[in-house]
Amino acid sequence: MNIGRGNLTSLINGNEIAQNLRNELKEEIDDLKIKTGKVPGLAVVQVGNVAASSVYVKAKTKSAKEVGIDVFDHHLPEETTEEELLKIVNTLNNQDKVNGILVQLPLPKNINEQLVLDSIHPEKDADGFHPLNVGKLSIASHNDENLLIPCTPYGCLIMLKSLGVDLSGKNAVVIGRSNIVGKPMAQLLLKESCTVTIAHSRTKNIDEVCKKADIVIAAVGRPKMVKGDWIKKEAVVIDVGINRIKSEVEGEIKNKLVGDVDFDEASKNASAITPVPGGVGPMTIACLLRNTTIAFKNKNQ
Ligand code: GUN
Repeated sequence: MNIGRGNLTSLINGNEIAQNLRNELKEEIDDLKIKTGKVPGLAVVQVGNVAASSVYVKAKTKSAKEVGIDVFDHHLPEETTEEELLKIVNTLNNQDKVNGILVQLPLPKNINEQLVLDSIHPEKDADGFHPLNVGKLSIASHNDENLLIPCTPYGCLIMLKSLGVDLSGKNAVVIGRSNIVGKPMAQLLLKESCTVTIAHSRTKNIDEVCKKADIVIAAVGRPKMVKGDWIKKEAVVIDVGINRIKSEVEGEIKNKLVGDVDFDEASKNASAITPVPGGVGPMTIACLLRNTTIAFKNKNQ
C-alpha cells in the first residue's frame, strides 16, 4: 500500500496517536463536566492475580484517571465464584455513577467467561464484547459514533487511518480469529470496504495468503510467527501480539517483549509497521476510555 514515503518504512507510533486521543477525550470530559456536572465512571473488575492482567488493569486505571474518568476498582480473589461475580456485575449494572464496566480477561477456569460478558448491561459494555454490541458492529448501517467497539481492533483501525490512505478495496489479512481481536477487526475492515481474509491455525499456506495482503493484522499470540518474506513490498503491518520471551543480551538472559511479527525482517518489506511495545498496546487503553465516554454520552445527552 503506497503511503507516500518512497522506500522508507514508517513506524506507526501508538504512544503518540494514543496520547492525541487521550488529550481529545480529556477536553471532551472537561466540557461534559461543565455541561452535566458529572464525569464518566468506569468499573474495573479483576479476578485473581494473572501477572499480565495486573499490568493491564493498572495501566487502564491510571490512564482513565488522567483523562478525568472516575474509576471504581474491584479486585476480587482467585476463589471468587461465578455466582459472586455475576452478583457484582449486576450491582454495577444498577449503579448510576458507573457508565462502563470492564471485566479483565482471562477469568479463572471455574467461571464461564461468556456468561459474565453477557451479564454486563450492553449500554455499559466498555469492551464492546456483549453479543448485542457485537451484532451492532456487524450491521454496517449503525452510526460508529455511538457504538461500543472492541478496543484493540478499533485502536488498530485508528492507526491505519492515521496513515491517510484510502482503505477501500485493499486486501486485508487478519491472522487470528479471537472474539476480542480477530473477528471484530475483520468487521471493522469490512466496513471500510476492504477485501478481508481471516487466517488462523488451520489456514493452509498461510504465508502465501499473507503475501497477497496490502494490510496485515497479526493477532495470534505466537512470538515472531509472521516472517519477513510473508510481507508483500509496501504492505502495512499492524502487530497486536505482546509476547514475553527470554532473550540473551550481552551474555545475560533477559525478559523481552516481542510481537507476533518478526519486526526486523518485516520492516524491510513493509511501508509502515507498528512496534512492540509502543504500538497497539497504548491504543487499546485509549479506546477503552473512548468507549467509557461514549457510554456516558449515550446516557446523558
Ligand atoms: N484481556 C486481553 N485483552 C483484553 C481486553 O481488551 N479487554 C478485557 N476485558 N480483557 C482483555
